[in-house]
Amino acid sequence: MRRIKIFDTTLRDGEQSAGVNLNHSEKLEIARQLERLGVDIIEAGFPAASKGDFASVKELSDTIKGCSVTGLARAVISDIDRAWEALKGGEEPRLHIFIATSPIHRKYKLKQTKEEVIETAVNAVKYAAERFPVIQWSAEDACRTELPFLAEIVEEVIAAGAKVINIPDTVGYITPEEYGAIFQYLHRNVPSIGKVELSTHCHDDLGLAISNTLAGIQNGASQVEGTINGIGERAGNAALEELAVALHIRKDHFQASTGMNLKEISRTSSLVSKLTGLTVPANKAIVGRNAFAHESGIHQDGVLKEKTTYEIISPELVGYRNNSMVLGKHSGRHAFKNRLNELGLNVPDEDISRLFAIFKELADRKKEMTDEDLAAIILEESLSKEQQFYELSSIQVQYGTNQVPTATVTLTGCINQVIQEASTGAGSIEALYNTLEKCIDGTINLLDYRIQSVGAGRDALAQVYVKLRYAEMETSGRGLAQDVLEASAKAYLNAVNRVIYMKENTTAKVYQ
Ligand code: KIV
Ligand code: ZN
Repeated sequence: MRRIKIFDTTLRDGEQSAGVNLNHSEKLEIARQLERLGVDIIEAGFPAASKGDFASVKELSDTIKGCSVTGLARAVISDIDRAWEALKGGEEPRLHIFIATSPIHRKYKLKQTKEEVIETAVNAVKYAAERFPVIQWSAEDACRTELPFLAEIVEEVIAAGAKVINIPDTVGYITPEEYGAIFQYLHRNVPSIGKVELSTHCHDDLGLAISNTLAGIQNGASQVEGTINGIGERAGNAALEELAVALHIRKDHFQASTGMNLKEISRTSSLVSKLTGLTVPANKAIVGRNAFAHESGIHQDGVLKEKTTYEIISPELVGYRNNSMVLGKHSGRHAFKNRLNELGLNVPDEDISRLFAIFKELADRKKEMTDEDLAAIILEESLSKEQQFYELSSIQVQYGTNQVPTATVTLTGCINQVIQEASTGAGSIEALYNTLEKCIDGTINLLDYRIQSVGAGRDALAQVYVKLRYAEMETSGRGLAQDVLEASAKAYLNAVNRVIYMKENTTAKVYQ
């Protein structure tokens, strides 16, 4: 069995998904879960891109010790310096440097000749090697690069000090046979190839990211890059949960395994989906709601007689449990705390009393609290502290079939002032959002609104996701409450607060 390293880029390439903006504590929460999942490397961000990215990469690299933390840099000295500042406190500081190599990128983006691209790449790797013990180098758009040039530059960056060579299919263009052939070509034409690890990085524009990654493994790659739920630029990246399970279920074929704890997959997928607001499609392999549902009579009959007739993966393998324990209003603090631990929710002791009080208050109104409810409220409560510029104090919405819906809202503003407004709308959500817009400085355009129930039942919690444009920034926000209107107001304010936070903590994102 070959051991394949998992390089997770959910927090970097994944965060490049349209409309996704993770804040500091959300990134930390995801990183801790990735550590539990057993990935080998976490790409925490792009330190030179913004103050916010820098701070997150630094914090993750200083705190996450169960796996290696890396950050991205262009082949530019100032990017490398910034990355070093962010990563130097890590166990084994690792840098990921990239430069585009394809003719189209050289001509239109970099405006550099082949020789200049080699010189830029080599100088950057040499400079970085004076600081970082491990350097990964990526040939952006490698799959549309002339193979002799790719082999030449790879040899040069290895000589300059790169330890891992990544071959990204940046635009999701390649097919499995062609991708495998690139690895074979490099093996034959790069004299120093035996000194480095080879890595895959596949995008899913043609729906081939997983097949291409597997082809890379079969042709010598010992590291694979991807994201949880396959999120990422455009159509996304290779989904790591699919990859790990494919290698596990078909070990007879691939003869390769990962260090991933497969039982943590469902929890990781649901956390990433919650915090990014990117819903997992019901039919998505491994983590979709229907991935283990047998609908047709023939299939159900077969599964009842013998599961393996139609089931190649058991839901338990990836952490789904059908006996989620229920807590209620009579549950004590001890049971509450135990359950949080079992669910892998990291709650510092000093926060337990506050969270237990919130749990009790909700349990009074809601018959029973499932694991999903618990995970949702704990997450919201522990992650909402960072950016509370506008805070909801109260809302009142009047709605009747023959009345004009009217909302009244009271907020606490950025300087602790009380803001109160009222407004109408064609429906209750519009009335509420018109009122909130009146409370906040500037114009706000709502771009998307989605509501989901957490768990089942009439008294289920409501989780609302919004996407909006405010102060020339597009961002998402989420809100959780038992009432849909309250959840809607919270989601809207969460997005507005995120924009204010980003404005305060961000210099313009650079990525070219
Ligand atoms: O897709 C890509 O080429 C990338 C690189 C920065 C590795 O994400
Ligand atoms: Zn990418």
